[in-house]
Amino acid sequence: MAYGDYQNEIYFNGLRGVIPKWPVSFAELAARAETALPPSIWSYVAGGAGDERTQRANVAAFDQWGLMPRMFVGAKERDLSVELFGSTWAAPVFMAPVGVIALCDRDGRGDLATARAAARTGVPMVASTLMEDPLEDVAAEFGDTPGFFQLYTPTDRDLAASLVSRAEKAGYKGIVVTLDTWITGWRPRDLSTGNFPQLRGHCLANYFTDPVFRAGLAQSPEQDPQSAILRWIQLFGNPLTWEDLPWLRSLTTLPLIVKGIGHPDDARRARDLGVDGIYCSNHGGRQANGGLPALDMLPGVVEAADGLPVLFDSGVRSGADIIKALALGASAVGIGRPYAYGLALGGEDGIVHVLRSLLAEADLIMAVDGYPTLKDLTPEALRPVKV
Ligand SMILES: Cc1cc2nc3c(=O)[nH]c(=O)nc-3n(C[C@H](O)[C@H](O)[C@H](O)COP(=O)(O)O)c2cc1C
Repeated sequence: MAYGDYQNEIYFNGLRGVIPKWPVSFAELAARAETALPPSIWSYVAGGAGDERTQRANVAAFDQWGLMPRMFVGAKERDLSVELFGSTWAAPVFMAPVGVIALCDRDGRGDLATARAAARTGVPMVASTLMEDPLEDVAAEFGDTPGFFQLYTPTDRDLAASLVSRAEKAGYKGIVVTLDTWITGWRPRDLSTGNFPQLRGHCLANYFTDPVFRAGLAQSPEQDPQSAILRWIQLFGNPLTWEDLPWLRSLTTLPLIVKGIGHPDDARRARDLGVDGIYCSNHGGRQANGGLPALDMLPGVVEAADGLPVLFDSGVRSGADIIKALALGASAVGIGRPYAYGLALGGEDGIVHVLRSLLAEADLIMAVDGYPTLKDLTPEALRPVKV
């Protein structure tokens, strides 16, 4: 079935008087998620660094580009599948790691709901280190969809090695190391309410279940959660340097992907040091305000990656955005906040709806504008929009 067929499903349901339970537009999705989530979780998810200029610029950057339509192509069938990191993906789209995704779910089990949505849609989940359920339990819900583990590299190398080896054993298909979050960026929304979920013990299951982490505690996290949280604070953020990359590389034979790359020189150097993929992102503008829109950095990173797969996220809100990022050279495009909002509104089904809507729009644009395969989506397909 083509992704675009989701619209037929919706229209046919409409004939029976059934309208979609969840919003189809991003603006309405966000508005309804705001009312559905507790205010502190909403601020944490929707907010970003500083006055959120970079976050808005990420979204606005997509408006600079327009797809040139091609006619008489007869793009009746579209092929969105892609080979990446040793597996076949149904489409070049994935769910970006969202720590605290667990808390966007009404019952606090959002990691599992996200993994189940990945199984149902074929859209891979990149699971954050910050989970409410252990990484093994989350991987068990992936079905046939490949899953990836995102590592926040702790300062204790043995703990890092333990997390990576657990991810290997659990069947994850790659390790995504996030580089831009060894320290938390300045986030006025969270600061003004004094709210940082992990300090309240949320989403630390991967640490609290880890044998290396537990061995460093006088009492177990079940007996003395406060000391376990303090230990977590000591271990969480590792300001990595290039000297650490060979060590990270040595931890796993799984594909290693580095997240947070924007400068072409960084992409080149990471490539030379043996990573398998570059992940161009500015963390959705959550970490450093006053930055460049991630989309503007993508072409330079793609060129420097020189054939290595490039994952991309930050600001993707529609199927049209997915198409533009692909045309600018992304191998796959990450969805962040939109799926968190889908989860907030409708649990696993809400995520499935959001992903199917995004994929349907992307697929229908390829159909209407005459780009039947991913290979057809190149920078030449885009033109700058004059404003
Ligand atoms: C609430 C929230 C939590 C996040 N947690 C993580 C995380 O644990 N690890 C990580 O690498 N990125 C994390 N990110 C960043 C996302 O992976 C992604 O880069 C970002 O959401 C993209 O921006 P967008 O959502 O505006 O499209 C988080 C993003 C949000 C919104």
